[in-house]
Amino acid sequence: MTILHLDASITGENSASRAISRSIVDQLKSGTYSEVIYRDLTANPLPHLTLDAFADTSVLDEFLDADAIVIGAPMYNFTLPTQLKSWIDRVLVAGKTFRYGENGPEGLAGGRRVIIALARGGIYNAGSPAASLEHLETYLRGVFNFMGIEPEFVAADGLNIGPEQREQSLKQALGETVRLAA
Ligand SMILES: Cc1cc2nc3c(=O)[nH]c(=O)nc-3n(C[C@H](O)[C@H](O)[C@H](O)COP(=O)(O)O)c2cc1C
Repeated sequence: MTILHLDASITGENSASRAISRSIVDQLKSGTYSEVIYRDLTANPLPHLTLDAFADTSVLDEFLDADAIVIGAPMYNFTLPTQLKSWIDRVLVAGKTFRYGENGPEGLAGGRRVIIALARGGIYNAGSPAASLEHLETYLRGVFNFMGIEPEFVAADGLNIGPEQREQSLKQALGETVRLAA
């Protein structure tokens, strides 16, 4: 069983999303998953999509070959880093991961687990003043739902509110990863 592990944060060792995604992978490895393919989308960025790049299916094949996909996803400017968007541009492919059937869009990539480590500087819970600016979790849920996958999320929020809040939020998120091994 193979895990595809992706990171997209620019902050290296200080990154919360990287720490959480690593912890998720460690938890999965203690279960039935043995092989890990790691893609650091910041160290080795995929270029913006072009028609030629779209014809290359290596990133898509790597996604479809994985049994679980673990993604470190920081919030940048209310949404995902463009590094991660470039990856999504290569896996959301009509006829491969979704199709338009008689009843509308149908996901074709179900049967694999997707776990996403979210790291956000602020708070975007339903009812909070910034809730309408949350385009990271909602976007990623929509993208994976479109491909027939219900993603699982582990979130660290309010990371830039202050050092105490950051420590507490990160600790809570890392603690939550323990349940994912089941
Ligand atoms: C370029 C940039 C843009 C950011 N934009 C937002 C934002 O729109 N909303 C927010 O809540 N936090 C924002 N932040 C804060 C990050 O979400 C926060 O620092 C988080 O910890 C980033 O994940 P990381 O620790 O894995 O790098 C931004 C940070 C950076 C570097």
